[in-house]
Amino acid sequence: MKYYITTPIYYVNAKPHIGHAYTTIAADVLARFYREKIGKENVFFLTGTDEHGLNIQKKAGDAKKFPQTFVDEISQEFKNYWEKLDIKYDNFIRTTDEKHKAAVQKALQALYGKGAIYKGEYEGCYCVACEQFKNEKDLVEGRCPDHDTVVETIKEESYLLRMSGDVQKNLIEKIKKNEFKIAPEKYKKEVLSFLESQELHDVSISRKNVSWGVTLPFDPEHTTYVWADAFLNYLTGLGWEGDSNKLPFQWPADVQLIGKDILRVHATIWPIMLMHLGIPLPKMLYVHGHILSRGRKMSKTLGNAISIDEMLEKFGVDGTRYLLMSAGTFGEDVDMTMERMVEKYNADLANGLGNLVSRIIKLSAGLDIEIMKSEYDPIQWNKGFFEGLRLDVAINRIWYHFIGKNNKYIEDNKPWELAKINEDKFKEVMQKLISDLYLISDLLVPFMPDTSEKIKKALEEKRAEILFPRIR
Ligand code: ME8
Ligand code: MG
Repeated sequence: MKYYITTPIYYVNAKPHIGHAYTTIAADVLARFYREKIGKENVFFLTGTDEHGLNIQKKAGDAKKFPQTFVDEISQEFKNYWEKLDIKYDNFIRTTDEKHKAAVQKALQALYGKGAIYKGEYEGCYCVACEQFKNEKDLVEGRCPDHDTVVETIKEESYLLRMSGDVQKNLIEKIKKNEFKIAPEKYKKEVLSFLESQELHDVSISRKNVSWGVTLPFDPEHTTYVWADAFLNYLTGLGWEGDSNKLPFQWPADVQLIGKDILRVHATIWPIMLMHLGIPLPKMLYVHGHILSRGRKMSKTLGNAISIDEMLEKFGVDGTRYLLMSAGTFGEDVDMTMERMVEKYNADLANGLGNLVSRIIKLSAGLDIEIMKSEYDPIQWNKGFFEGLRLDVAINRIWYHFIGKNNKYIEDNKPWELAKINEDKFKEVMQKLISDLYLISDLLVPFMPDTSEKIKKALEEKRAEILFPRIR
């Protein structure tokens, strides 16, 4: 068994915000769970940065920097933030890596050789922040609904990728049969209704006036459209060199995690490229919702984002991981405000987990009891929710079943009184609390690895620091 999970590769037009952290922490949680379940060597977690295209070319220009210098700096920022957030990926792919670029050229040459790419002309409205052509009906008063930017009308000579006919039919089949599973279900329905209601237009996969990109091997006047370049990261990140007959053993991906903003392209251009290349499709595309701020998608372009630094400063690393993973249904939009997060931090972490740990450790001072293992196996207990990517449920039920209930158990049994009047009963109560706390520390491994270790250490040393200081 193996588990290969990917995140989108993020644009380096600006440093990451909590939307990017959300996806990347989720992937990290899954990778950590599967490392426990099937062994470290069988898990591969890929993330990285998407570094070409017009938007980045422009942003580098605004900053008066060479594009390469600009992307080097911001890509490094992503790595720094992932380190701060305790995210342990197996590889960080950058689309400006020479090996990636060479593989992209090889794959495009193969597509061209097969006739899947042909020369033509393309005309459409382009949102630079999306790096996508938009349909008229997706626009709001001529503007991109996600970025509020005015779209540009572009008409130029271009190479196009064939999207309709048999490939479209086969794609629909594969989605229907869950061979290429799109989840949650509502996103699958959305994609199918889109695919079944129209013949797909061939997609422009090259640009003539964007110099910051991978040169087309069969026409050096063009660079590769940034998405065609970017999708291949999911293969080159494993060391793939562009040959359809030599696929890395981790392929196909088990889960490709994405936000709903990039569902359409991931459910059309990406699988169709693979089908033309004769490469198996990923097993599952898992789509999560947006983090909203003031009712709109939090975004680098809109500038309404809560910063990762602000969260880290207030809540610490594991507090930030907790708040993001427990915030709302994974798959749906979640509106995040600082006030609500502070409240939740105080309730669930300072008063909830933090209080439970410090009470149990204090009560067990001087107590000599053998720790009995819990009747629950921590991997089995949450397995179904990890497999179904219900990360919010997986984390919230730890609080519901073990943290909330044990805090109540302490209040109901008042062990500090038992200690004075009934030693056997006191030991019995403490035995349960301690074995549950061990279980909690095991269950927290994927979500809050550092807290998990601190709890184990506190149990061994019978001494605990304050894990989550109250915020006023
Ligand atoms: O689209 N809520 O990069 P990008 C939740 N380079 N998730 C969010 C979010 C929010 N408000 N904002 C961003 C690109 N994300 C392309 C992808 S992949 C071959 C190329 C997360 O920097 C979410 O995962 O715009 C979303 O899909 C992704 O960042 C978009 O990042
Ligand atoms: Mg974006």
